[in-house]
Amino acid sequence: MDLNIKINDNDHLDIGGADAVEIADKYGTPVYVIDEDRIRENYNRFYSAFSRYYPKFKVFYACKANTNFAVMKILEQEGCCIDAVSPGEVYISKKMGFSGDRILFTGNNVTNDELKFVVDQGAVVNLDSISALNRLAEEVNPDGIKISFRVNPMVGAGHHDHCITGGVMSKFGIMDVEAVEAYELAKDLGFEPIGMHSHIGSGILDPEPFKLAIESTMDIAGKVHQDAKIDFEFIDFGGGVGIPYTPDEKVLDINKFAQENVNLFKEKLKEYDMSQPTMYLEPGRYLVGDASVLLVRINSVKQSYRKFIGVDAGFNTLLRPTMYDSYHHIVVANKMNEPETQTVDIAGNICESGDLFARDRKMPNVEEGDLLAILNAGAYGFTMSSNYNSRLKTPEILVHNGKCHVVREKETFEDLFNKQHIPEHLQ
Ligand SMILES: Cc1ncc(COP(=O)(O)O)c(C=O)c1O
Repeated sequence: MDLNIKINDNDHLDIGGADAVEIADKYGTPVYVIDEDRIRENYNRFYSAFSRYYPKFKVFYACKANTNFAVMKILEQEGCCIDAVSPGEVYISKKMGFSGDRILFTGNNVTNDELKFVVDQGAVVNLDSISALNRLAEEVNPDGIKISFRVNPMVGAGHHDHCITGGVMSKFGIMDVEAVEAYELAKDLGFEPIGMHSHIGSGILDPEPFKLAIESTMDIAGKVHQDAKIDFEFIDFGGGVGIPYTPDEKVLDINKFAQENVNLFKEKLKEYDMSQPTMYLEPGRYLVGDASVLLVRINSVKQSYRKFIGVDAGFNTLLRPTMYDSYHHIVVANKMNEPETQTVDIAGNICESGDLFARDRKMPNVEEGDLLAILNAGAYGFTMSSNYNSRLKTPEILVHNGKCHVVREKETFEDLFNKQHIPEHLQ
């Protein structure tokens, strides 16, 4: 099994050298627990796999996956850069120590004010349309402003329809056939177009669509290089590298993946007589996905028409199972070596039928009070959480060398009143 699971001598789940049961007892549940070392390992494995074959390589962490400040700081220390998709993400990144030149902004359907804000922060913008280019030209003096375009490489892949971002149904990027025109217009307006970006989707474990996307993006870049006379400083192949979520899925052989993709990249550089642009990739999930677990407590065991194991979190805390029908492996953190003896549904505490963490899941015999760990909760976990049903957002704990640090406090009921005002006539 390729899932990141460690068990200690007490038969409890180990997270970065800390005991999950002790963490839950001390900080309460539900709680997200982040393993610092695992993020560093993931980054270094990824970076060295690619830079070994192509030293002009940079990693831009797609921080939409997890914007916890500690996570951002860890990746900043490692030398990573940031892919941001909103002005808020650019703002946070700056506060966490990333200089503007280490931030790429890949927004879509952004306003003029947002474009201006991002450029003023020193980030390079990946424009998603010719409309955005023209609107940016109205907001800033284009002289010397470096920009890039997101192109649709007409290849898409991903773990769910919602996560496929290339091809004819996708809202993202400019069409391949308008790329030359877009770059020429950018130059005419006075911008410095220096990059090209594509991103085909999320949660991809099959290397084949990536190769197709590299070829297709490079064909578009080659044409732009030849017809619009652009010398690219960087070409960015997006994110989307998957991680195993089920016990059957295999971890991607990252060295082979890097070697094959770099080879394709180099072949295309040669074919189009291009110099050596820096190669960018934008992993989100790969860096942080398996570095966190969500600990939840069983508060009800109910035999209805089906057997329901009820826990103290819901889709407001971890949306992926409900939103994407995603599988998250779930273990009993206080009884790690018990055999599976039953098939159950694991349900949350939100007032909706779709609030299930698992259907027909094989589990050991469990009781109220047992602690479950929902694995691989580090990407698109907390960042997609909400206050639906007026439930409070969870605390987050960072584990470093076996020591726990509270990196986000649990909300209180008072937080539910943030920013709301009751007009006088209703008081
Ligand atoms: C532009 C862009 N880059 C990178 C990513 C990261 O994807 P993942 O977390 O699957 O690596 C995303 C996610 O959707 C994205 O939209």
